[in-house]
Amino acid sequence: MPTLGVNIDHIATLREARKGKEPDPVAAAILAELGGADGIVVHLREDRRHIQDRDLRILRETLRTRLDLEMAATDEMVKIALSVRPEMVTLVPEKRQELTTEGGLDVISQGKKLEEIIPRLQEEGIAVSLFIEPSEEQITEAKRLATDFIEIHTGSYAGCRGKAQEAELIRIIRAAQLATEFGISVNAGHGLDYWNVGAIAAIPNMRELNIGHSIIARAALVGMVEAVREMKSRMRSA
Ligand code: PXP
Repeated sequence: MPTLGVNIDHIATLREARKGKEPDPVAAAILAELGGADGIVVHLREDRRHIQDRDLRILRETLRTRLDLEMAATDEMVKIALSVRPEMVTLVPEKRQELTTEGGLDVISQGKKLEEIIPRLQEEGIAVSLFIEPSEEQITEAKRLATDFIEIHTGSYAGCRGKAQEAELIRIIRAAQLATEFGISVNAGHGLDYWNVGAIAAIPNMRELNIGHSIIARAALVGMVEAVREMKSRMRSA
């Protein structure tokens, strides 16, 4: 069974709706850990629309599990990562207008910048993951870049049903297989929920699933500890 990274960005989105103190993502992270989260994921955006620098600092001090910092491949973010020292950095594309991360990082066109950034993080003991589409070209470039992990973007799989979803699942299974053959560890995430998580959790060699929106949405109704417990139970029975 893969491990579960719980993305708590949307707790911070709710707080920022009033620019106040609550709900505090640090409290949410502690409850997610109590529910069985194996790691906590936050995306520090350039525009700081949800997670703030303060959250990152306190999470670093308080987490009992692992911190995965999602960020754009920019000098500002690399500087922050080197000072906060999360266990892992997941590099994602970032557009100011988007509601959430749209599509994977194009590691082919960004190759030059990534060649420079990835070793800077790895030399400081931070594992690097590249959030990419399940495509052979992207995975082949990820291998050349000597990344530790890829995170397969599951948004297309989550966004369709029936035969189209089966075809997306096969793409993800093949991508995970190829990355594993290349010696890259495989995570997955985006759009996973209580109904579609099973097939992804059952993929051989899947290391970690990163899930945010559906857990936070459920937590709003049933509480964080219960929401994380239920997600782990679905992953276990997959
Ligand atoms: N993985 C990455 C790289 C993401 O950018 C996000 C969204 O912040 C997630 C996973 C979680 O996606 P969702 O909120 O749809 O579960």
